Amino acid sequence: MTAEELRQKYISFFESKGHVRISGKSLLPDNDPTVLFTTAGMHPLVPYLMGETHPAGTRLTDYQKCIRTGDIDAVGDPSHLTCFEMLGNWSLGDYFKEDAIRFSYEFLTSKEYLGLPPEKLSVTVFAGEDDVPRDDESAAIWESLGIPRERIHFMPRSDNWWGPAGETGPCGPDTEMFIDTGKAACSEDCKPGCHCGKYIEIWNDVFMQYNKQKDGSFAKLDRKCVDTGMGLERTIAMLQGKKSVYETEIFRPLIACVEGLCGKKFGDSADHDVSIRIICDHTRAATFILGDERGVPPSNVGAGYVLRRLIRRAVRHGRKLGIDGLFLSNPAEIVIDQFSGAYPELAQNRDFVLKELVAEEQKFLETLKKGEVEFEKMLPNLLKNPQKTMSGRLAFKLYDTYGFPIELTEELAGENGLAVNRAEFDEAFKKHQELSRAGSEQVFKGGLADHSEKTTAYHTATHLLQKALRMVLGDHVGQKGSNITADRMRFDFTHPEPMTAEQIATVEKIVNEQISADLPVTMEIMPIEEAKKSGAMALFGDKYEDVVKVYSIGSFSREVCGGPHVERTGGMGTFKIVKEQSSSAGVRRIRAVLDNS
Ligand code: ALA
Repeated sequence: MTAEELRQKYISFFESKGHVRISGKSLLPDNDPTVLFTTAGMHPLVPYLMGETHPAGTRLTDYQKCIRTGDIDAVGDPSHLTCFEMLGNWSLGDYFKEDAIRFSYEFLTSKEYLGLPPEKLSVTVFAGEDDVPRDDESAAIWESLGIPRERIHFMPRSDNWWGPAGETGPCGPDTEMFIDTGKAACSEDCKPGCHCGKYIEIWNDVFMQYNKQKDGSFAKLDRKCVDTGMGLERTIAMLQGKKSVYETEIFRPLIACVEGLCGKKFGDSADHDVSIRIICDHTRAATFILGDERGVPPSNVGAGYVLRRLIRRAVRHGRKLGIDGLFLSNPAEIVIDQFSGAYPELAQNRDFVLKELVAEEQKFLETLKKGEVEFEKMLPNLLKNPQKTMSGRLAFKLYDTYGFPIELTEELAGENGLAVNRAEFDEAFKKHQELSRAGSEQVFKGGLADHSEKTTAYHTATHLLQKALRMVLGDHVGQKGSNITADRMRFDFTHPEPMTAEQIATVEKIVNEQISADLPVTMEIMPIEEAKKSGAMALFGDKYEDVVKVYSIGSFSREVCGGPHVERTGGMGTFKIVKEQSSSAGVRRIRAVLDNS
């Protein structure tokens, strides 16, 4: 059976049971700030599951494109996908457990439909937890259909409870259907839910009875509903006796395309297979997001950011396979041709999809080049490190500032006989993720993203600038004030005349040399008199505490300052003087930026 036949059979089976076929909806939910993508077939139906009247009635069926990026890092193995289709049927206050389970059983086992042998079928039902009792009713229905007790497994909430799709919304206990692939059990405890590959989950009937509220409590829904979801790709793989979704006709043309581009055969090397799968899955997902009726271009926020990650990861794996230059439009065209029958919007948006894919790919290739140049600049210093280790913090800077992936940093470091402190990188990355999570929540609230790291870099840049100005213009230069935002710095200093273009260029060059040298920034606490004696620069007109903090940047600069500062100068960005002008008599003002683009 092909994917197209499965879609048709599913819909016509439920039509024969009084369901009305509705069309699937956009991948980008309207009016739902709790999720970025449509993650399940039920998602567009949430208002109806909560009590709204659906114009098509109380029995509905459809197929729905979905995106789930929760375990994007698992993509590359034989089963995980970020983009998939879900077949579904719904009862909006109409039938409940009895009919839902009977329909599922009939569709799975009837010769007219999937014709699966009933003895291969195992099911799980909710074991009961908190106020919700054990689902003996569903178990009894399965038993009445001929599924023996030993193939009916009671499972806790962590396994047999579905929803809500976002933070709040409809949810309830479910019963899940598994097919025994015939593979040997991995242990005595092996049962549905085990990930060894013996049991494949293909369908889930959810008994929607609750609405999860903002405060975490569960309110009873006015009417009981059924929401079901069958994963199309997995079911097709199982029906075709394939071990992996990638072996079905859904992915075969895409894999052949990537094989052609890289000259490597799928199945010859485990590493290459991972990269090929990632390219196929991510290109398919990116094509569906761009080609959606509400398609968005890549960006730095929300769905556009997820899209950017998908595209960049695909490009990176293309490079791993030895593909040079732009290539994503090739598999994308295949996705468009293959799925436009079921999703006509893909063909309608073909030009937009291809244009945006190529533009993003191009941008990322430039990013990679820039990252490589930055790494080369850091290299002389790194090679001086007696431990032959690049700090995770520096590797993170490359990632954070230039979007340079850690795997590539490790590769470049390895080629130069250096290791990367991965634990330190992971730590910094985790912190960053927490920050960006906070950031994306703020996006929804309309707030501002966190720029503290950038602001800190500007603080350090003022020290570098002051010292460079003294070197170029003379010791009469003294700081009169500064003003920093996350986007730029302003620095006022004593000097009687405009700087020449040559002086400006020399100052920039000196500052950038210190940034590339990745100098350590250290702090000591000492009495102000001692600080002055030790040559630390300060705003001498200012009042200081008796004991002050002195920040040193390598042996380049030494300045009395409250901080904060970056730990090392590497990765601050490229220092550029945007403007040099008069501020007041005898005082000049510089506006400068740290460019991370
Ligand atoms: N909404 C349920 C799921 O996605 C059916 O598994």
